Amino acid sequence: MAYKDVYDAWKADPEKFWMEAAEEVHWYKKPSKALFDDKAPIYEWFSDGLTNTCYNAVDRHVEAGRGDELAIMHESPITHATKGITYKDLQKRVSSLAGALKMRGVEKGDRVIIYMPMIPEALEAMLACARIGAIHSVVFGGFAAHELAVRIDDCTPKAIIAASSGLEPNRVVHYKPLLDQAIDMAEHKPEFCVIFQREQEVARLIEGRDFNWHGFQYGVKPADCVPVEGNHPAYILYTSGTTGAPKGVVRSTGGHLVALNWTMKNIYNIDVGDRFWAASDVGWVVGHSYICYAPLIKGAQTIVFEGKPVGTPHAGVFWRIIQNQRVKSFFTAPTALRAIKREDPNGEFIKRYKLHDLQAIFLAGERADPDTIKWAQEKFGVPVIDHWWQTETGWAIAANPLGIEELPVKIGSPSVAMPGYDIDILDEAGHPVEPGELGAIAIKLPLPPGTLQTLWNAEDRYRKSYLTTFPGYYETGDAGIKDEDGYVYIMARTDDVINVAGHRLSTGAMEEVLSNHPDVAECAVIGVADELKGQMPLGFLCLNAGCTRDHADIVKEVVRDVRNEIGPVAAFKLACVVDRLPKTRSGKILRGTMVKIADSQPFKMPATIDDPAILDEIKVALQGLGYAKE
Ligand code: COA
Ligand code: AMP
Repeated sequence: MAYKDVYDAWKADPEKFWMEAAEEVHWYKKPSKALFDDKAPIYEWFSDGLTNTCYNAVDRHVEAGRGDELAIMHESPITHATKGITYKDLQKRVSSLAGALKMRGVEKGDRVIIYMPMIPEALEAMLACARIGAIHSVVFGGFAAHELAVRIDDCTPKAIIAASSGLEPNRVVHYKPLLDQAIDMAEHKPEFCVIFQREQEVARLIEGRDFNWHGFQYGVKPADCVPVEGNHPAYILYTSGTTGAPKGVVRSTGGHLVALNWTMKNIYNIDVGDRFWAASDVGWVVGHSYICYAPLIKGAQTIVFEGKPVGTPHAGVFWRIIQNQRVKSFFTAPTALRAIKREDPNGEFIKRYKLHDLQAIFLAGERADPDTIKWAQEKFGVPVIDHWWQTETGWAIAANPLGIEELPVKIGSPSVAMPGYDIDILDEAGHPVEPGELGAIAIKLPLPPGTLQTLWNAEDRYRKSYLTTFPGYYETGDAGIKDEDGYVYIMARTDDVINVAGHRLSTGAMEEVLSNHPDVAECAVIGVADELKGQMPLGFLCLNAGCTRDHADIVKEVVRDVRNEIGPVAAFKLACVVDRLPKTRSGKILRGTMVKIADSQPFKMPATIDDPAILDEIKVALQGLGYAKE
């Protein structure tokens, strides 16, 4: 079947389409139907089925006789370690950890926070939670203690599973002190913590609260998989919104299993036993879906990579792993390829390795710039597929579904809507625009299986953030275009979310930190264009009247504050002091106009601007930082 046939088949009978897809996963009790719409516009999938994610991702492959095949390869160029875990090993390790969690009182529906670097134990912790129906929430290691505390208070975990340390190329990330600080800051206290002690750092444990990973499991009875309902939350993953408070995306079990399983073959062309690698981090949605769950649900081999695209030790590390692990489909962020291209423009490292198993490269997480795509196409001679999705959706909204049909690539477009997604481009009044016209990208409800069911503890926020602006649609927060052939083009965010090196960040959260500085009266943070990272945050500070302190000191302090409060991942390094901020007459800060000035783009003077002269002051300040070139 061609893509069009598959998409049309879904559109003609979505219920049949998803019930057929559901046949591919294991159910203890099959669902009576796919879509449950009695609470519309809140939709659920496969609610009355009973299943278990860990059974689907681990046990069923062992039972099918594939226990000796590799499930996970750990590649850590930072520690020089390479280690393989078979499906049988994984089953043993996960059921043991699950048994220990259960013995300590973790039950179906309890939350467990996981704060770990890129080691296989992170996946084991996720799967152990899934095994007993506990709801995990993985927090990215690049977040500071305060961000971890916010998540502890929001999802109130019974337990936290962490590692003693993570390893960045230039430093050891001391997870344990960050964890201790976060627990001190949070109002909610977990009952206990499980700490995986790494060789590189043995953390001090707090007696009575902290358990050593191995000791914790010693002598316990391994746990079996607990059947859970299709609509039981599999996990909560926090993502940035417009305000400083992160949104807890809730993914439910049945839809997650069915959708991810469908994508492995149809989008990534991965079959049972194939080798797949997503070079992301388990703290992000790409890591949840494509490092941990989807490859294992499919019965493929996944790779846990602890390193960077460059500098660990060189710009050929990706290609070395692809060669050695015989990777068939590789998924990374455009920024990683840009970093490699900058160090190795002629692809000298690429020539050193035999990459004949590699059949496709997939890119997502941010806009894929044409230069990078063309470079990769030329250097690898395989399809380079841009695809577009979000934490909220959990899998691709638009892609080029290689396992169905390789569609012509239009550079600059992540291609076409996947089955389940009916994409419209809307004007401000919510009417579809003509092909080729720019508008807000919205998806007709219901969203397909595997997408967010709601926001944790915040159904109202879910409705307000996504379902209210365009009734009958899910608002993606992205603006773009759809052409005559149905190819979409993602142009910009419609909110204050920015994308730094494929990491989604909230400028609102950074503004909250800046405005807490005692000398700052008012502030704004914008995302400016960056050749390597796509965007970089840049802050404007208006100081309190009478403040005579050196501006450079204040800038240093706010940079430190953002690092301490949000974390190094925010990459907040640029700020300047200005007298005033440009605003509309009603007092709204003109962030969009400041972005255009910074990026040296033409802009229309906003009709509602209060004082146009301020824009000249902003331009001078930006020029002082090397932006707003003539
Ligand atoms: N734990 C702790 N700190 C982390 C971290 C983690 N897991 N990940 C990143 N950081 C820190 C880095 O050490 C760095 O700190 P520094 O300011 O002390 O140098 C900061 O956060 C910014 O990190 P990063 O965005 O990785 O930038 P970089 O300059 O170190 O590397 C790239 C640049 C392009 C190589 C890197 O951003 C990259 O690999 N990007 C791909 C991202 C990706 O795969 N995203 C997946 C989304 S799909
Ligand atoms: P995240 O939730 O971190 O995955 O970030 C999702 C956001 O990243 C989207 O809403 C887009 O703004 C952006 N994004 C992701 N993939 C792409 C892509 N292929 N092209 C353009 N933007 C993308």
